[in-house]
Amino acid sequence: MLEHVEIDDPTPGPGQLLVRVGAAGINFIDTYLRAGRYPSQPPYVPGSEGAGVVVGVGSDVDTDRVGTRVAWCEAPGSYAELVTVPAARAVPVPESVDDPTAASVLLQGLTAHYLLDGSAHPTGPTDGNAGDAILVHAGAGGVGLVLTQLAAARGIRVITTVSTDAKAELSRSAGAETVLRYGPDIAEQVRDLTGGAGVRVTYDGVGADTFEQSLAATATRGTVVLFGAASGPVPPFDLQRLNGLGSLSVTRPTLADFIREPREFIWRTREIMDAVASGALTIRVDHRYRLTEAARAHTDLEARRTAGSLVLEPASAAGRDQK
Ligand SMILES: NC(=O)c1ccc[n+]([C@@H]2O[C@H](COP(=O)([O-])OP(=O)(O)OC[C@H]3O[C@@H](n4cnc5c(N)ncnc54)[C@H](OP(=O)(O)O)[C@@H]3O)[C@@H](O)[C@H]2O)c1
Repeated sequence: MLEHVEIDDPTPGPGQLLVRVGAAGINFIDTYLRAGRYPSQPPYVPGSEGAGVVVGVGSDVDTDRVGTRVAWCEAPGSYAELVTVPAARAVPVPESVDDPTAASVLLQGLTAHYLLDGSAHPTGPTDGNAGDAILVHAGAGGVGLVLTQLAAARGIRVITTVSTDAKAELSRSAGAETVLRYGPDIAEQVRDLTGGAGVRVTYDGVGADTFEQSLAATATRGTVVLFGAASGPVPPFDLQRLNGLGSLSVTRPTLADFIREPREFIWRTREIMDAVASGALTIRVDHRYRLTEAARAHTDLEARRTAGSLVLEPASAAGRDQK
């Protein structure tokens, strides 16, 4: 159960900032943790992502940081008015980027970034190749829209799946060349669209409902990147099947392993934040809820009523035309 309660203000420890939250990002993983699909120890304050203003620092942190705006994606307890954030993982927010956008961009943006440049490496004409095709499930979701934009910007052909006409329109506007509806013939349609070859990489954050289609839609020596389970976990899988499927690779990556090293974190973060600040990357935050409405936001996300990114806004972050 997710409910709004009053608790004591947190105190920043060594290496930490105390931040007044302007907006907290909502991600699908928050629902897995709440529902017990990933290990968690209730009671706890959910969320890990957000943006806001630094109002205090731990004993060993430069006091110049007070008053600056930062974004983060690794601070447990971010569905709150105040949160402590590791100073080394708090990213300065450009003036042109508002709190809801900054609060939504890191977790989904860094994920899309490592999916393209880390877990697999599809290439486009700008890399000197003819251009690969990729398949992105849930193309109108938070990660899906960012991944589509980043890939299309490189000239990679993006095929997506979505559940509604409105989501299809969004996915197309992000740069998807072809948008498909879920169904038993996804792989067949993907083969038709790729001259029978299949896609170089399939990105599957949907899981149980799509995994078999993902395998069947992927080209010989291609890669299936299983990165989530919005429809439920994929059942145990016999690796022996991969030889009959065209020597496919299957990987199950997680963001933490692609931003652990400070240099990699800074590189990926700069690319994503700069792309947002320059307008090269658009983050759609169409779903803005009050902090007290966190339970409703989770219900909407799990019921597939959302597209793009979702945020929670504390009452103190005033002046919003909230959903
Ligand atoms: N491994 C990592 O490093 C990492 C990091 C971040 C996120 N993720 C994963 O990436 C995926 C996307 O995350 P997100 O936060 O951007 O969420 P999201 O894509 O905005 O929301 C999930 C979407 O999945 C689709 N979906 C298909 N079947 C579904 C079902 N049975 N129930 C619910 N949704 C279903 C829905 O789109 P349609 O209605 O169009 O089907 C829904 O909007 C999640 O699986 C998440 O866990 C993984």
